[in-house]
Amino acid sequence: MTNKKVVFIDSFDEFNLSVAKKIVDTIQYSIEKRGKASIAISGGTTPIEIFKVIKEKYLVKLDTEKLNIYWVDERYVSHNHPDSNFGIANDILLRHMKKVKIFPVDTEISITDAAYQYEQLLMMNFNSKKVVPKFDLVFLGMGSDGHTASLFPNTDQLSISDKAVITVKLKQLNYHRISLTFPVLNSAKNRIIAFYGQKKLKIYSEIQRNYHKKYPIQHLNPSSISESDSWFIGKF
Ligand code: 6PG
Repeated sequence: MTNKKVVFIDSFDEFNLSVAKKIVDTIQYSIEKRGKASIAISGGTTPIEIFKVIKEKYLVKLDTEKLNIYWVDERYVSHNHPDSNFGIANDILLRHMKKVKIFPVDTEISITDAAYQYEQLLMMNFNSKKVVPKFDLVFLGMGSDGHTASLFPNTDQLSISDKAVITVKLKQLNYHRISLTFPVLNSAKNRIIAFYGQKKLKIYSEIQRNYHKKYPIQHLNPSSISESDSWFIGKF
């Protein structure tokens, strides 16, 4: 049975500290239990301060040589573009991690090839004959429309069950995206979902009241092998 834990946090600093600690603890637990940790991280703005806390407070504690880092999603821009999820994480944190293994999405090839090759990489690295690799941790945010990863409301991507990695081309987005799908997010052993702000808080309270899957975030369902499902919600 999954221990879903929801924590409401009043201050920005406390939010970043709590999420950073949970990420590090989950990585270390996976390394102790399984000899390594394979995690997928999100982009956007929420992770920025959290990555800074990990760099400042936890780098010495982390066995980064046993850590494999992938992406939940990526904007289809070059890695040195200011909005590159890889670029942001690498600049703040990853370049400081000794011997960490990093697997960014290749955005120098066509977007179709980028998604296909990332899925092939996952299948190879996770020895998954089927399509669904099982991450030790996926770290997710939520947009103010209830999207997570690059899985947006009212799109066919929400019900994809036979792919691990897809392309996302929506006119409302500044960039095309590559994204993991819900079967992958739901097969992770641990999930950390972190967001803050009144609009997102309202979405959270709304989804507690109704089960109609209006928002993509409601498609997150822990699987039988789930170890933990931690929600950190900033009330500021
Ligand atoms: C991305 C993220 C995305 C993010 C939400 C929330 O590439 O943008 O992976 O899923 O988690 O959009 O973004 P903010 O943290 O910027 O609100």
